[in-house]
Amino acid sequence: MTVVAVVGATGAVGREMLRTLERRSFAAERVIVLASERSRGQKLDYKGTKLTVEKLEPSSFKGVDIALFSAGAATSKEFAPIAAQNGAVVIDNSSAWRMDPDVPLVVPEVNPGAIKDRKKGIIANPNCSTIQMVVALKPLHDEARIKHIVVSTYQATSGKGQAAVEELRAQIRDVAAGKLPTPNVFPGPIAMNVLSDWKAGTDGYSEEELKMVNETKKIMGDPSIGVTPTCVRVPVVSGHSESVHVQFHSPLSAARAKDLLRAAPGVELVDGEYRPGGEPQPLRAADTDPVYVGRVRDDLAVPGSINLWIVADNLRKGAALNAVQIAELLAR
Ligand code: A2P
Repeated sequence: MTVVAVVGATGAVGREMLRTLERRSFAAERVIVLASERSRGQKLDYKGTKLTVEKLEPSSFKGVDIALFSAGAATSKEFAPIAAQNGAVVIDNSSAWRMDPDVPLVVPEVNPGAIKDRKKGIIANPNCSTIQMVVALKPLHDEARIKHIVVSTYQATSGKGQAAVEELRAQIRDVAAGKLPTPNVFPGPIAMNVLSDWKAGTDGYSEEELKMVNETKKIMGDPSIGVTPTCVRVPVVSGHSESVHVQFHSPLSAARAKDLLRAAPGVELVDGEYRPGGEPQPLRAADTDPVYVGRVRDDLAVPGSINLWIVADNLRKGAALNAVQIAELLAR
């Protein structure tokens, strides 16, 4: 039996982590919920009981076996090593440790074996957009070796946290009332708009785009894979969508890709002829586990390459579910 701590339990991902532990009947003897001073004493539902939120402190991790972190990179930088020193295995949803060579970056459908090599006692949960893309692309990479990925994302507001979702709803109400929306969390209107709201990275790319470049190579274990990303936020609550073009070292047909995707763990292939509204959609993916892959097409301009449309719930497979699956691997 295992003692689990959820750090950032009051946040969008933290709440989903609790729900996921419950839904998957994770064998936890006890679950401790931690957040900032602001949330101390708040009650969170878990398995028909109420858990009381405690303030995150260095002493929070005594007796904890697995610590699921989703409280931002600064909190993870400070507290993940403390949790590990106390004997917990940390599964960290922030970007703080992902590119550390001593920290495995794990998607259970892609590189489950990497969890063994956790020199710091920390395992990193990848970026949400990257997770759903590599779940879909791994079987294709195994077959034909990916040379180059061109990906455009359509990302939901919940990826930016609970405050961002509330701001989307407030902006929609403002627009419907004929008022100008007042951006606060976002750098501009997100209602009736599309925005790139991530911090600047390098060479004109956002930090989010560079995460997709670097994390894809690390998870797939192949630094030669080229990734050309464009990330945008859309006025959606949950569910990231991605338009993906993939070129391979050996030509791959859409028909063969579909066969591979039909058998791929974690993937639900949405097959059939094109029809309006027949494609995977974030509203349908919300509150479900699979990575939906549809619109698998031979590229018309580059022979042997394919195009796909990939949709998943960013709070589930993109965050909480992936983290809990890693915890399940540890518990095996
Ligand atoms: P709190 O609700 O007390 O602010 P989201 O990604 O939805 O914004 O959620 C962030 C989560 O991280 C929340 O649970 C938040 O707690 C928690 N958090 C943020 N900063 C800290 C901190 N310094 N110490 C502990 N928890 C934090």
